[in-house]
Amino acid sequence: MFQRIRSYCLFGIKAVPVSVEVDASQGLPGFTLVGLPDNAVRESRERVVSAIRSVGKVVTGFRTTVNLSPADLRKEGSALDLPLAIGMLVATGEIEVPKLERYVFVGELSLDGLLKPVRGVLSVAMSLPRGADSILVIPKANSAEASLVEGLRYICSDTLSECVEILEGGAENSIYVAKGLTQKSVPPSSAIPDFRNVVGMSGVKRALEVAAAGAHNFLLVGSPGAGKTLCARCLPGILPEMTDEEILETTRIHSCARRAGDSEIFRPILSRPFRTPHHSASMVSLVGGGTRLLPGEASLAHNGVLFLDELPEFNRSVLEALREPMEDGAISVSRASGTVMWPARFMMGAAMNPCPCGFAMDPKRACTCLPDARKRYRERISGPLLDRIDIQVSVPPVDAGMFAGKPEGESSATIRERVCAARNIQHRRFAGTHFKSNAEMSSECAHQFAMMSQATERFAIAAADKMNLSARGYYRLLKVARTIADLRKNESVEIPDLSEALRYKTYS
Ligand SMILES: Nc1ncnc2c1ncn2[C@@H]1O[C@H](COP(=O)(O)OP(=O)(O)OP(=O)(O)O)[C@@H](O)[C@H]1O
Ligand SMILES: [Mg+2]
Ligand SMILES: [Zn+2]
Repeated sequence: MFQRIRSYCLFGIKAVPVSVEVDASQGLPGFTLVGLPDNAVRESRERVVSAIRSVGKVVTGFRTTVNLSPADLRKEGSALDLPLAIGMLVATGEIEVPKLERYVFVGELSLDGLLKPVRGVLSVAMSLPRGADSILVIPKANSAEASLVEGLRYICSDTLSECVEILEGGAENSIYVAKGLTQKSVPPSSAIPDFRNVVGMSGVKRALEVAAAGAHNFLLVGSPGAGKTLCARCLPGILPEMTDEEILETTRIHSCARRAGDSEIFRPILSRPFRTPHHSASMVSLVGGGTRLLPGEASLAHNGVLFLDELPEFNRSVLEALREPMEDGAISVSRASGTVMWPARFMMGAAMNPCPCGFAMDPKRACTCLPDARKRYRERISGPLLDRIDIQVSVPPVDAGMFAGKPEGESSATIRERVCAARNIQHRRFAGTHFKSNAEMSSECAHQFAMMSQATERFAIAAADKMNLSARGYYRLLKVARTIADLRKNESVEIPDLSEALRYKTYS
């Protein structure tokens, strides 16, 4: 008997419809699988036959041919186990499923018939045609992802036998209707250090507040132990909440990056990601790709922060690869089978010492590096990359005297309130455009929204001239000044806003 089962395969972040066609006929027993399967798919026959046996059915003894269509798309991973099992069960007449054509199956099987989670179920759920009579059948461990797509109808189960039982019974009492995003935010985790406990460093705190408010890239430069890493680690505590749309975008990427067989319950990403890849990170782990086309750290940081501590220690070509997403908010990975686009709109943060010994900018300790070594160190970071970093601050070491008595500074929660207010102004400003923050806006917008008086504009141009700013540098200056004006809820950018923005241009 011939049977066609609906399923999906991942291609980057996209879920592509695939049908699993099973033909089981009398004849010399055998199994043929065609349609560009990868190794995991090829091995699925062994898992599927054994899982089916655990249900008490036997599907061997037939001449079985399976075709995965479309034939030119490479199918990878183990998500086709479940559709293959159902296809073989139905095609051999072992089970009968009423209205089989309305189900879409994804899931991995273990030898004993357990249904194991697969990656990218949120992508599948989002791609399923709306309004049509489609029901998604998935492992229970993937149900949190399906429940995020409002109105989606789905069935979930822990084992193949439970799944078969539900399907044979017509499933009516087992269908869930997804409610969409119900929990929209989580309070900042207690694992995040609070700015209240950071002594002094008011300049750095302010710079990070401006960066968070406008989603500007930032760089902290200072002596060892000055508190750069500490301040950056406080940053998640002042980042604004994500919108529903952003939560879905980010969660979708994390769902695709999920490790196969990871049976931990997947939770939607409700707070902005803060990714801190190690400086030994490879190109693939940072920007994505590889044989399985997984997203990299830059994509996992989508809508959040990608923090590169010890920036000069990163491989230069790896850093250069970040220029594309910093400009376009996306990464494209080319394959013979087509190009995969990964969203990667992140705020880049970085920290570094000014020289190999670390004390070149220290008022109290002398730098022992040769000028040549200092120059080489600086050259590890390219000019174009530095040019894309709007906020660059030097981090002076805190005077030991300031630690006495530990004066309490402003808490992260207070700073976050100001950041959120500034972001709300930006949401209203960019309503109807594809921009989300000041850092992203185009040059024309930067000029238009600055709403400078003639005198202020003259000041901006004169300052840019004096500091030899490139055209891009000039517009980036306006964007940072726009954020500073937003923080004090002022409609137009004025000279003090520009002066502060100019102070963040010192390093490059
Ligand atoms: N302003 C500060 N307030 C409170 N603690 C501080 C401050 N500055 C530094 N510290 C303490 O010093 C430790 C070292 O700071 P941190 O790791 O942030 O330095 P760093 O600038 O990143 O140095 P490196 O260049 O070596 O990476 C922190 O864990 C923190 O306990
Ligand atoms: Mg550090
Ligand atoms: Zn030095």
